[in-house]
Amino acid sequence: MFTEKSEGSLSHLQELRKKIESHQASVGVVGLGYVGLPLAVEFANAGFKVTGIDVDASKVASINRGESYVQDVPTSALKPLVEAGKIRATADFAAVAGLDTINICVPTPLRKTKDPDMSYIVNACQDIAKHAHPGMLMILESTTYPGTTDELMLPMFERPGLKVGEHFFLCFSPERVDPGNPKFQTKNIPKVVGGITPACTEMGALFYQQALETVIPVSSTRVAEMVKLLENTFRMINIGLVNEIALMCDRMGINVWEVIDAAASKPFGFMPFYPGPGLGGHCIPIDPFYLSWKTKQAGIEARFIELAGYINGQMPHFVVDKIQNALNDHSKPLKGSRVHLLGVAYKRDIDDVRESPALDIIHLLGKRGAAVSYSDPFVPKLRGDGVIPSDMLAIDAEKGSAEADCVVVVTDHKAFNYARILERARLVVDTRNALKGHISEKIVRL
Ligand SMILES: NC(=O)c1ccc[n+]([C@@H]2O[C@H](COP(=O)([O-])OP(=O)(O)OC[C@H]3O[C@@H](n4cnc5c(N)ncnc54)[C@H](O)[C@@H]3O)[C@@H](O)[C@H]2O)c1
Repeated sequence: MFTEKSEGSLSHLQELRKKIESHQASVGVVGLGYVGLPLAVEFANAGFKVTGIDVDASKVASINRGESYVQDVPTSALKPLVEAGKIRATADFAAVAGLDTINICVPTPLRKTKDPDMSYIVNACQDIAKHAHPGMLMILESTTYPGTTDELMLPMFERPGLKVGEHFFLCFSPERVDPGNPKFQTKNIPKVVGGITPACTEMGALFYQQALETVIPVSSTRVAEMVKLLENTFRMINIGLVNEIALMCDRMGINVWEVIDAAASKPFGFMPFYPGPGLGGHCIPIDPFYLSWKTKQAGIEARFIELAGYINGQMPHFVVDKIQNALNDHSKPLKGSRVHLLGVAYKRDIDDVRESPALDIIHLLGKRGAAVSYSDPFVPKLRGDGVIPSDMLAIDAEKGSAEADCVVVVTDHKAFNYARILERARLVVDTRNALKGHISEKIVRL
């Protein structure tokens, strides 16, 4: 824990400011996944020497070979930085001793009970604290509940004679990366940052200004933590609302997609959200429950969040019912039918299957006795894990569609040739409006 003695307050602030402004600061990123690796690359691009620390030895080895495993970071961008010595990776936290700044980008999943699992943050901070030294800037980026940085993290670093804002600097900055988004990436997504003290905020903002286009300082770590939860709760609840509207429209025989498109013609006061087979990814299905867990402690029930969570959680069941009804209308029982899923990633044109509704749909179809296959250009293999009964390999989309009793569009990847798929299929349940504009009796829309 803080391996050298503090030398006096102002010098740390001034020294670190100088190192950051001159790009001589040694930058560390802990957790080199979808969030951490793009961040490391941006700081290396800005001329900093970056050390990535990850407990996953295969990721460390891959980075040191210059090979990227994150879709948004092409190997062609990573390799020259590794060859120039601007990025290196290690699994050894002893590297912290040589760092001036650390961004922590480790996972924050939910436990089965929907309680936050803080073990990754705690483990990373414990390992950092063993080698930390005065004069460091530490920024937590993992999505979490308001209070994590000051209640959980600060006590792991503060000691008598080692004062936050004087001897070291601590901030929270929410990561807002949208994997697969070609327009907005780490560099041009505005970066919100809030520190424990004004000096911490100033240092955090100064740091990000060196590599990112826009920095938005806020008054505290709690504000910065809450910003992220507001953004993702906003999305989750609006998706829940539109999913409920889709269920209503289905019952009333109204095309929900046409309704949304027409409503979106209103030039003010309406923002379109779209229904689908359910929520997926590491953010929208999870983050709002961090907020509801925390507010429960303050005696407030987060009722919108619970309700939207319930409706969104029903969507895979609704899709499976829809498949069953569509087959029954063609005088086929679901049991024993072949059902082919198009797309298993949680959203279009990415390779991430975490929390993907496709996994629930495969599970539910299997339970009802259907034989399930899938195609996904980004996901060649699905691992058996309790939800998926055994490993599955992707097959050709058109072949799979031709052989199935029912095709289900779960993820509307651009690479699928929907016209040809429709030609070959007997029946298509479209949960994403991927067949917009196609008119055919074979199509059953959400
Ligand atoms: N993926 C997204 O689109 C996204 C967007 C915004 C925010 N976030 C948030 O960012 C955080 C990271 O998400 P991600 O998608 O990058 O996760 P990820 O699983 O892709 O990457 C996390 C990395 O941390 C490593 N790790 C785990 N424990 C560690 C430890 N103790 N020390 C060092 N490394 C450790 C893992 O090996 C992994 O490589 C989460 O809190 C997530 O909610 C993610």
